[in-house]
Amino acid sequence: MEKIIVKLDNVSKNFDKVKVVKNINLNIKDGEFLTILGPSGCGKTTILKMIAGFFNPTEGHIYIDGEDIAKLEPYQIPVNTIFQNHALFPHLNVRKNIEFGLKMKKISKNKRTIEVNKMLKLVKLDKLDNRLPIQLSGGQKQRVAIARALVNHPKVLLLDEPLSSLDLKLKKEMMLELKKIKQNLGITFIYVTHDQEEALTMSDRIVIINKGKIEQIDTPVNIYNYPKTKFVADFIGESNLLKGIITKIDNNIATIKIGNIEVLALNQINKVNDNVHLLIRPEQLKITKTKPNNQFLKGTITDHLYQGDIIKTFVNVDDLSLKINRFNEQELLPLNSEVYISWDIEDALIIQD
Ligand SMILES: Nc1ncnc2c1ncn2[C@@H]1O[C@H](COP(=O)(O)OP(=O)(O)OP(=O)(O)O)[C@@H](O)[C@H]1O
Ligand SMILES: [Mg+2]
Repeated sequence: MEKIIVKLDNVSKNFDKVKVVKNINLNIKDGEFLTILGPSGCGKTTILKMIAGFFNPTEGHIYIDGEDIAKLEPYQIPVNTIFQNHALFPHLNVRKNIEFGLKMKKISKNKRTIEVNKMLKLVKLDKLDNRLPIQLSGGQKQRVAIARALVNHPKVLLLDEPLSSLDLKLKKEMMLELKKIKQNLGITFIYVTHDQEEALTMSDRIVIINKGKIEQIDTPVNIYNYPKTKFVADFIGESNLLKGIITKIDNNIATIKIGNIEVLALNQINKVNDNVHLLIRPEQLKITKTKPNNQFLKGTITDHLYQGDIIKTFVNVDDLSLKINRFNEQELLPLNSEVYISWDIEDALIIQD
């Protein structure tokens, strides 16, 4: 069985009687890259601060390596935190910034040098060890902050939106690097972000939080392909979410009435008269001028949005506006043309209202 390194047992947090974190139960596995993902203000930082021991939970308990952290002083809790503003010591060079924690722990000079050299290599700053923070780029500063946290060999590394101040290209590079560092060291990462791309790219599992509550805990692939709630379907990726009601179930096929339209979808758990949403991702829809063989709707093209590698086309079907992603090389049909939109029945997912 896999070891659980961090356990949140029914954890809640109130600020001035307002419950901002609500009954969180979470088992984080040793060596896992777990991401807490949710919109601004949903409680992510509050959860992280409770794990680091900066706040006590109003209700519930947090265990690290089997020990209730309520009994420990913050400095005894075996975690290190990297905050968004990396706050390096401005007057110390890269090497001394990384070395600082070891000095505080009174580690011998020799041992410190060996450890710091290892870290400098790991974050690829071995040639810049003499520079001051002001002489570094944003991504380099971020790497110093990571090395400075890792040199203490924490059991768990907490990262609060560490890449949000970087430009897109640097952010993508750092995403790959963080993933590699994590694989090399095998320590547990608890990573907080509101950026779904970061979450999908790096995580072993993602916890989606909405208004202080867990909506879903799952692998990135399952979160994207099988969102359990409308919130998750909407928050992750792009979606066409069509509100309707189930009017018939025959074998495992449900008939869903969406406005004046009826479509078929695979049914898992629903019953006749259930209010549902049908989720179809924009890349699952096809546009054709000729009548397709699979399930289709008829509509009119209202807009094309050019996005480089793909073109997003909007089609009106009755009162609905559907978005469809198509690769750039495909032929563009003119605005106002009548088209068929089709999809494979297994590519649509019924989500409970
Ligand atoms: N010390 C505090 N006192 C009172 N309310 C607080 C305090 N800290 C946070 N809150 C409130 O708790 C809620 C959750 O805040 P939190 O910082 O955990 O959100 P977040 O998910 O990290 O958001 P963001 O993505 O913007 O960083 C917010 O409504 C916030 O205003
Ligand atoms: Mg936050």
